[in-house]
Amino acid sequence: MHLLSASCVCVCALLFTALPLQVSGLETVVGMYGETVEIPCKSGAINAEDVLITKWKYNKGEGLSGDLLVKQRDQPFLVSATNEYKDRVSMAANSSLLLSAATLLDQRTFTCMMVTGADITENPVNVVIYKRPTDLQISDKAEELEIGKLTKLGTCIASNANPAANITWLKNNKPLVADGKGISIQAEVSVDALTGLSTTSSLLEYSAEKEDTDAQFTCSTQPTVGAEMLSSPATFTITYSTENIVLQVSAQEPLLEGDNVTLKCLADGNPAPTSFNFHLKGELVKVENADSYTITNVSRDTTGEYKCSLVDDPSMESSKDIIVQYLDITLSPSGKVTKSLDETNTLDINLQIDSSAKATVSWTKDNIKLEKEPKFTKLSFSDSGRYECDVVMGLLSRKDFFELVVEGAPVIKQLSKQRGEDGQHKVLFCEAEGSPKPAVSWSINGTLLEASPFINGKITHKIMVVPTANLTVSCTVSNKFGTDTQAIYVSSLFEDVRVDKQDQSQGSDQTKLVVGVVVGLLIATLVIGLVYWVYMKKTKQGTWKTGEKEDGSSEEEKKLEEKVEENSQKAEV
Ligand SMILES: *[C@@H]1O[C@H](CO)[C@@H](O)[C@H](O)[C@H]1NC(C)=O
Ligand SMILES: *[C@@H]1O[C@H](CO)[C@@H](O)[C@H](O)[C@H]1NC(C)=O
Ligand SMILES: *[C@@H]1O[C@H](CO)[C@@H](O)[C@H](O)[C@H]1NC(C)=O
Ligand SMILES: *[C@@H]1O[C@H](CO)[C@@H](O)[C@H](O)[C@H]1NC(C)=O
Repeated sequence: MHLLSASCVCVCALLFTALPLQVSGLETVVGMYGETVEIPCKSGAINAEDVLITKWKYNKGEGLSGDLLVKQRDQPFLVSATNEYKDRVSMAANSSLLLSAATLLDQRTFTCMMVTGADITENPVNVVIYKRPTDLQISDKAEELEIGKLTKLGTCIASNANPAANITWLKNNKPLVADGKGISIQAEVSVDALTGLSTTSSLLEYSAEKEDTDAQFTCSTQPTVGAEMLSSPATFTITYSTENIVLQVSAQEPLLEGDNVTLKCLADGNPAPTSFNFHLKGELVKVENADSYTITNVSRDTTGEYKCSLVDDPSMESSKDIIVQYLDITLSPSGKVTKSLDETNTLDINLQIDSSAKATVSWTKDNIKLEKEPKFTKLSFSDSGRYECDVVMGLLSRKDFFELVVEGAPVIKQLSKQRGEDGQHKVLFCEAEGSPKPAVSWSINGTLLEASPFINGKITHKIMVVPTANLTVSCTVSNKFGTDTQAIYVSSLFEDVRVDKQDQSQGSDQTKLVVGVVVGLLIATLVIGLVYWVYMKKTKQGTWKTGEKEDGSSEEEKKLEEKVEENSQKAEV
């Protein structure tokens, strides 16, 4: 027995100095925790028939051994153990030790001792008990992951295993490897004092990226025996703070006074911000649970810079300019303007434009475009009319007008005469300016051929007369401001001589004017004769003169010539 003990000490020394599983020459049996372990007894070359006694014992440590059971040939085995092994050991027919309900305390050396006739052989077997983790799960999961911020994502726990589990973290089934920056893994193993089982916990700290929104995080372990274990997957809400903020202004175009403008602050981030600060030209308005602010009834004072920013990060801001368009014009004078004609009379036009941008101005007078703004340094009757200004700025336009009436005593501009085409009458023209419309009267009774409309302060009267004697005809124009008269000398049909205004002798001549066909015919015959004579004389001399001296009479002369020619031809027939 002394010898046996010595060999045991040797084996034990080996067991504790080297790794138990790699003890050379020592057979190792692996048993599963809680199950029955069969520890074979290697009889080697010994014939089972020769074995007298088979005995199982175990190494108690500290060089001691304990008996488990013993069997003598042709007898059933007897349990010799008195401790906790008493109820757990039995022997198979082939001498294997059957150890039920294995625990980690059973990880020791069991020795099968056989006694034959002369020899005693010992066959030690090392027992190792494995246990898969009871459970593999992720606990202490993060509420959410913030992008770019190293966060404790969770702890993976592989509980009660032997040997201790090695945990691998996976993202979408791909292993995560600690990189010292975005991924950090710290594993910790704790051993249960009672059972000796190990619980591994692995803490993953992870810095999320935007793409991690639907990523599945799992942890796995490959136990020493059996299939790989995988935890149920965990997904996380990926949060990130606002990176972009935009202020949107919705208003109609163009934005005018009285309109409404809505400011809307758009910001990203998960979760998105729910409160905003609106900076309304310096005034700060905080809006909660909403992202917009409406300015009603804007005015030109609303124009300015607007901003929105995050309540908790004022540096995140966006700004926009709001421009309220307006166009106000003041035209002076405006409406109806009456001015009396006076050499010194001027009219100042003042068009004031108050607008948000440069406006263009155009003018019309009586719907006819003017090249520039009207200027009246010296008023005349023809300045009368409706002046309209049209001011345009973008889509806005304003109009105003003034209607100018220049009033004053009438003036005769021209008094003239013309011989009628048939030579039987004369046509007198009286052209006058004045306002209001002057009344025109003649010193003789003629036939009114035409009274022009009163435009730009001008009026023209045209009458037909048949003078039977030399007479002076006067035209009189008058309105409430005064009267003007001019006279013209009208010779009896054949001698037209104009007299100067100073030589006027009015009134008495009118009685000499007789309208008579017989007299007319007689005179006409005379005229033809006279004119024919003159014509012949002119043809010989190459020159022709009449007593006519009045302005613009060349036209009259020509007509006269033609008339004479025509008449002379008639006479010849
Ligand atoms: C010994 O017998 C048991 C059943 O009793 C059997 O399971 C085992 O394989 C046998 N072992 C050897 C080494 O033959
Ligand atoms: C809009 O504002 C102007 C002054 O800016 C005010 O006179 C007007 O009454 C306001 N209109 C409304 C509908 O509030
Ligand atoms: C013009 O005719 C009217 C009647 O037709 C007459 O009463 C008047 O006296 C006449 N005037 C002149 C100047 O001949
Ligand atoms: C008209 O005046 C002219 C001269 O100007 C004269 O020769 C002529 O005889 C006058 N006729 C009548 C009808 O008085």
